[in-house]
Amino acid sequence: MKLIKHAVLLVALCSVVARAEPSVPFIGDLWSGIGEIGQDIIDGIRNATQEGADIAGDFLHHFQNATDEFVGDAKEYSQSVLEELHDGVVKGLASFARNVLLTLENLQQTISKVSNNIKRQVLQDALDVLVRINATATELETDVANIGIELQQRIESHRAEIETVLNQWSKSQLDTVDQETDGAGVKEAEQLINELVLRYGTYLNSCAEEVELRKVGFELQVSDVIEQYHNATTALAIQIDSCLRSTNSGRSARNCRNGVQGALANLIQAPKNLEDLKAAGAQLISSGLQGSVCVVQTLQELANEKLSVEIKIDIIIGQNKKAPEYDSTTLPIGSE
Ligand SMILES: *[C@@H]1O[C@H](CO)[C@@H](O)[C@H](O)[C@H]1NC(C)=O
Ligand SMILES: *[C@@H]1O[C@H](CO)[C@@H](O)[C@H](O)[C@H]1NC(C)=O
Ligand SMILES: *[C@@H]1O[C@H](CO)[C@@H](O)[C@H](O)[C@H]1NC(C)=O
Ligand SMILES: *[C@@H]1O[C@H](CO)[C@@H](O)[C@H](O)[C@H]1NC(C)=O
Repeated sequence: MKLIKHAVLLVALCSVVARAEPSVPFIGDLWSGIGEIGQDIIDGIRNATQEGADIAGDFLHHFQNATDEFVGDAKEYSQSVLEELHDGVVKGLASFARNVLLTLENLQQTISKVSNNIKRQVLQDALDVLVRINATATELETDVANIGIELQQRIESHRAEIETVLNQWSKSQLDTVDQETDGAGVKEAEQLINELVLRYGTYLNSCAEEVELRKVGFELQVSDVIEQYHNATTALAIQIDSCLRSTNSGRSARNCRNGVQGALANLIQAPKNLEDLKAAGAQLISSGLQGSVCVVQTLQELANEKLSVEIKIDIIIGQNKKAPEYDSTTLPIGSE
């Protein structure tokens, strides 16, 4: 499970370096060593997050070979790189939203002056799509900016729930030992229980890191989609501009329509895809730790271990039982 943190670091490194962000030049050397394995990891994460599958198995197995060599160096840069990735996505979204809004406002101001019907119709189509993209892009920007904080809050509250249940269980076990042994078995039982609680605390930390990994996957996904639509918006703006400048001859009107329609085709799925991303972000937050297979498995293992601790506690109780208080109405156990 400790691999997961390393995976997050390496993935963050890879993703930043793969995009050749000029603001992090120092990672270049690491990247040249990570090479293909790093690319596989990015692919794996993208695939996993897209398919909603768990990030595990082959992917982590693959990663195992990379860790030894690179993790030592990678660790140093981890936090700044994760932040860099997050900031990059937020900035990318903001710049996309601005691009959309400028194109949209420009068109809103000029469309009424277009007298040619063919032109006005296709420009109106473009305007409708841009309005829908504008609304969603702005919302997505806010969501992505806050996702880290909201996810953290979710994780904390899930952890608190798990801890509460575990504390209640611990207390009831210790109370029983205390009562049954008059305190004699408490120390031994405490050791058993403390070990369990500490160990599962560590496991849950690792699970929280898995959730962080999902966040990285989500941010990469947003980043990909935004880059594509940012370019498509720029291409559309160019078509709109040339359309607005063109004459009203039948030929220019048809050129305008074909040009705008062609550029618009690349944006037609954008409102839906952006909505889907918003939903994926909301899903990531709302499922938090509970959505993590790591947590589900960990809680299952915890339930099993609690049972085995309870058996050991019964033995402790048996070994430290209070001196029996003989009572004429009860017979020794096992007697007929
Ligand atoms: C990711 O998915 C693509 C297409 O399905 C596949 O070719 C590729 O091998 C996958 N990568 C990993 C690391 O699973
Ligand atoms: C990891 O390295 C070992 C030894 O070099 C090799 O046998 C194994 O196939 C590698 N695993 C992966 C997934 O690359
Ligand atoms: C763009 O979206 C924002 C946020 O939803 C909204 O306030 C604004 O009015 C929209 N602008 C246009 C021109 O539709
Ligand atoms: C978007 O445009 C930039 C700069 O023109 C280019 O480097 C990049 O590859 C393009 N991305 C996509 C997804 O088309």
